[in-house]
Amino acid sequence: MTPKLGVCYYPEHWPETQWAQDARQMRELGLSWVRIGEFAWSRIEPRPGVFDWNWLDRAVDVLGKAGLSIVLSTPTATPPRWMIDKYPDMLAAGADGQPRGFGSRRHYCFSHAPYRQESVRIARLMGERYGQNPHIKAWQIDNEYGCHDTVLSYSAAACAAFRLWLEEKYGSIEALNTAWGNVFWSMEYQNFEQLDLPNQTVTEPNPAHVMDFRRFSSDQVARFNRAQSMALRKTTDLPLIHNYMGRITEFDHFKTGQDLDIASWDSYPLGFLEDRSDQGEDFKHRYMRCGDPDFQAFHHDLYRAVGRGRWWVMEQQPGPVNWAPYNPAPTGGMVRLWTWEAIAHGAEVVSYFRWRQAPFGQEQMHSGLQRPDGSWAEGAQQASEAAKEITALLQNGADISPRPSAAAIIFDYASAWAWETQPQGAGFDYFRLIYDVYRGLRRLGLSVDILPPDTDDFGDRKLVCIPGLFAWTPALQRAISTFKGHILAGPRTGSKTQEFKTPPALPPGLQNFSCKITAAETLRPSAPLGLEKGGAFHIWREWAETSEEVTETCADGRPALISKGNINYLTGWPDDEAMRRMLAAICTVAKLSTSVMKGGERLRDFGDFQARINYDTRDVQIIKR
Ligand code: GAL
Repeated sequence: MTPKLGVCYYPEHWPETQWAQDARQMRELGLSWVRIGEFAWSRIEPRPGVFDWNWLDRAVDVLGKAGLSIVLSTPTATPPRWMIDKYPDMLAAGADGQPRGFGSRRHYCFSHAPYRQESVRIARLMGERYGQNPHIKAWQIDNEYGCHDTVLSYSAAACAAFRLWLEEKYGSIEALNTAWGNVFWSMEYQNFEQLDLPNQTVTEPNPAHVMDFRRFSSDQVARFNRAQSMALRKTTDLPLIHNYMGRITEFDHFKTGQDLDIASWDSYPLGFLEDRSDQGEDFKHRYMRCGDPDFQAFHHDLYRAVGRGRWWVMEQQPGPVNWAPYNPAPTGGMVRLWTWEAIAHGAEVVSYFRWRQAPFGQEQMHSGLQRPDGSWAEGAQQASEAAKEITALLQNGADISPRPSAAAIIFDYASAWAWETQPQGAGFDYFRLIYDVYRGLRRLGLSVDILPPDTDDFGDRKLVCIPGLFAWTPALQRAISTFKGHILAGPRTGSKTQEFKTPPALPPGLQNFSCKITAAETLRPSAPLGLEKGGAFHIWREWAETSEEVTETCADGRPALISKGNINYLTGWPDDEAMRRMLAAICTVAKLSTSVMKGGERLRDFGDFQARINYDTRDVQIIKR
């Protein structure tokens, strides 16, 4: 594996006379990839059916001849204004039923069939024109599905498509009524035409109804993506990519990823710390110029799984962003550190966003590698340093490809939807639970793999954690039954059936493990429940009846951790202290060697090397193992 660096570029934003110099400077900086095109529809097809390809032909030519490999994107995240005149009903609608208007981006409903056809048409035309172009080496489809809260749409198109989806899933209205338990509150339907989307109900809708709407909405993203991918594949054999985001759980990325060859994501460490972190003010203050030491790594590991081993960072923050509540500048060294960290997690390409700061439009305050006047911004120097260091490391044929990690966590998008639908307590958030376990393992110096819920073999791993899984999949049950390493399940794992019902024999439903969760309660932030050996459960705790060994108890004497052989079940959500202690104890039993990381220190094993990353000192060292 030979990782490369790249950049996102918008030739349509700059005079053509500047392109050649830009391309030359990209190469001089040590960049070899450039992504273009993802918002350029109004310049490619200024009026319906009237095309101007010439500028794009020339841009591809200039960039390619300078020695850059191009990622060409389909521009479907920004349908031009004329498209809305053609299909006024293509706009997505919010939960209040109001259409979300033109004037920014992502203004389309995934369920609008004519727009899906338009997106296939433009993808096909681009494929026909550039599919065999020697300068183009990969394709990106659309841009950031789900960004700006755009997966769930309550439009008429979504409602019609949902009814068809349900009919296909259940076959008869009786089957749907039974599956959803519609006898409750006299919600029984007589035909599929009566079904609405689950917004605007008087009080909470049936969770089974919401859950199916969430599955449907996720499927619509996969379907939209598949339609474009099929159109492109007729014209090119090059890898197809999408750029996913941080902490977006509204659609099943594993499913969408099945129609793509490489997963990529857009990494904005400082924006995400301000905008998407559950941590308190002190933590945010401490890391405001570095980012959360686990957030980038978590997504690198997640997208490595989504891409079935192949993944990139398509957009890497090079300086301040413009969209978080506060937008500080990264402290010296962080752009280099983030770059190395991605490579240590297996990134094939790290591409900065963007080449030059825009002097117009919404993102004028977003930095680039260059300032709007073409002078170098702070991030450029670090990108160039990283490029040189990577080349130096690889000179002697070093092996840096990722190997399976001894510890893994199952990540299941459907569980995120389930617990959003029925959180039961204000703090219960699936991503947060998974992330707490991930951080806990990394604070023990471990490298971690994220695995999808259809994994049916855990391989030679020593520990697999399955927290908060809402419903068992047959694959996971098979994987557990043959696994020699240790399992840590719970809290809340296996507590529903796929139909969103309570399992008849009560959770957690682990085979050959005599344990029943008889009740669950959620805890106010002011009322954590102490644990016998230190730390506490917060947010969530369960009452368990078991004849297996109780290895830890809560302060009220009820079981906290139940173990039998290699299976362990956790009955609550451990706070920081308890998480650290309990994970360390299980790692010892699982013969997983750990080390105590201080503050922002983290380790990542890759190929023949170990990256020693320190978010406090902003340093990264690559050590031969
Ligand atoms: C990403 C997006 C880019 C740009 C960037 C700004 O979410 O893909 O187009 O808007 O954020 O940080």
